[in-house]
Amino acid sequence: MNKEKRDMLFNQAKDWVLEAGRNIRHKIKDPLHIDTKSNANDLVTAMDKETEEFFADHIKGKYPDHSILSEEGFGDDLNSLEGVVWIIDPIDGTMNFVHQKKNFAISLAIYEDGIGEIGLIYDVMSDVLYQAKHGEGAYKNDIPLTPLDKDKKFEEVVFGLNHFWLCENRLVGEKYMQQFVKDVRGTRTYGSAALEFAFVAEGVLDGYLSMNLAPWDVAAGMVIVKETGGVTTNIDGNQLSLLDKDSVLTVNPSIQERLLDSYIKVGRK
Ligand code: IPD
Ligand code: CA
Ligand code: CA
Ligand code: CA
Repeated sequence: MNKEKRDMLFNQAKDWVLEAGRNIRHKIKDPLHIDTKSNANDLVTAMDKETEEFFADHIKGKYPDHSILSEEGFGDDLNSLEGVVWIIDPIDGTMNFVHQKKNFAISLAIYEDGIGEIGLIYDVMSDVLYQAKHGEGAYKNDIPLTPLDKDKKFEEVVFGLNHFWLCENRLVGEKYMQQFVKDVRGTRTYGSAALEFAFVAEGVLDGYLSMNLAPWDVAAGMVIVKETGGVTTNIDGNQLSLLDKDSVLTVNPSIQERLLDSYIKVGRK
């Protein structure tokens, strides 16, 4: 994508993200309309749908030849990332939205022919926008994020993961992940994959690991993390397809090998 097109789409996407965020803040005290999806803890609210519909209507109205990949059903059924694709999670961290009314984000990415061009992650209640354009660095609001520490010491790592890694699970023996938790300085669980990606880009987390994420959970985060020198793969170290769900590791490369070799590969089921 040329710079002029990227800048134009970035400015438009940013305006829509900020507008959608203002709408959510304005209605944050309204009564919630909550449904469940795959199970009783898989929540969706009218606000998730309203926000996604806002993006879909605006994108389809202005860019009818672009495609949309999104969580709540207003996007397209895609089996390739050809052309310009907007990958959107209208509210990432719906459980936080419902229970805490904070700590959730809008995640919006624009890819062209599979290449991540634009990433926006908006922490709505804090009014903090993480943003990146391919090859142009990443920003928190308008302040550039610094490149990740190339010599991160494993003993000083602060790492994002949820507690299911410490329970019996289908991917990695829990005793290996328990050892990992003991070996690093600290672990954190925030409940929004998009924000956890943003924190990795910012260097306030040194990595984030998830068992199963969808393209809209990771697409914007991957663009932003890459701009500060982070890498994103599945737990076997392979590239993500961005068309299917997969396990995800986004991480400071200086700890990637030890994490994969000493804990994940040895414990892999
Ligand atoms: C969820 C959040 C959560 C992660 C889940 C995601 P949602 O997204 O990112 O942190 O652990 O796997 O599905 O459903 O709130 O958009
Ligand atoms: Ca969801
Ligand atoms: Ca999500
Ligand atoms: Ca969501």
